[in-house]
Amino acid sequence: MSDKERSPSPEFSPLGFGEDLAPLPEYKAAGTTAVDFSGLLGEPLKLHEDLKSGCGGQLWPAGMVLAKHMLRYHRDTLQHARILELGAGGGVVGLTVARGCASLDHPLYLTDMVEMESLMQHNISLNGLDDRVRARVLNWGEPLSQEVLDFKPDVILAADCVYFEPAFPLLMQTLHDLLALVPAATVFFCFKKRRRADMQFLKAARKAFAVAEIEDEDRPVFGREGLFLYAFTKK
Ligand SMILES: C[S@@+](CC[C@H](N)C(=O)[O-])C[C@H]1O[C@@H](n2cnc3c(N)ncnc32)[C@H](O)[C@@H]1O
Repeated sequence: MSDKERSPSPEFSPLGFGEDLAPLPEYKAAGTTAVDFSGLLGEPLKLHEDLKSGCGGQLWPAGMVLAKHMLRYHRDTLQHARILELGAGGGVVGLTVARGCASLDHPLYLTDMVEMESLMQHNISLNGLDDRVRARVLNWGEPLSQEVLDFKPDVILAADCVYFEPAFPLLMQTLHDLLALVPAATVFFCFKKRRRADMQFLKAARKAFAVAEIEDEDRPVFGREGLFLYAFTKK
């Protein structure tokens, strides 16, 4: 089985309109952006963006929302957490947590497909976080690696991972595997609805997991943009 068959992910296309005509973000030239979430991060995070490795190579809106949420509401709650990010892309969420939340006892894992590994690693080093953050390949739908099984993550971060229907069952499988591994784990899940099919993912998630909307003072703003923020836990 080829990598593509195992891990479907769409080619990024700025002309890839969905059925509701909501385009994916537009192409940007490669470059480095600094983000500080309206001053919530003392020292801004530097993020290299480069779409040549795939669509995760740029900042996505749900990543920005989830990163800000974690900073604002979980700055002091994650010290003992074992944190793993799925579909991390350039790593905005995990790196924000590693930089801005109280010192973590455990390394934080950024995970994505192999194409994104070098960008994740680049952004880890760009921010001097090599001692705290690890970049690893985790293809949704595949059995969890021994390293992840041993790590036993109890905080899972996932932002803008709902955008390509063929990958929905694979992502569901991985979420299921992670919640089976650590039944007390919480998945912080943020996505932007771009196509009607995106809500099918939520419907499946509600069947499989306990799904709760998370309070956030920015909800009225991001809600208007079609962004949703949930916690998934084991039923
Ligand atoms: C839209 S990007 C979001 C990136 C980042 N979380 C953010 O919010 O900026 C989705 C990410 O999911 C990853 N992805 C897609 N299909 C995947 C799969 N089958 N297994 C693992 N990662 C996948 C992509 O490589 C990409 O980095």
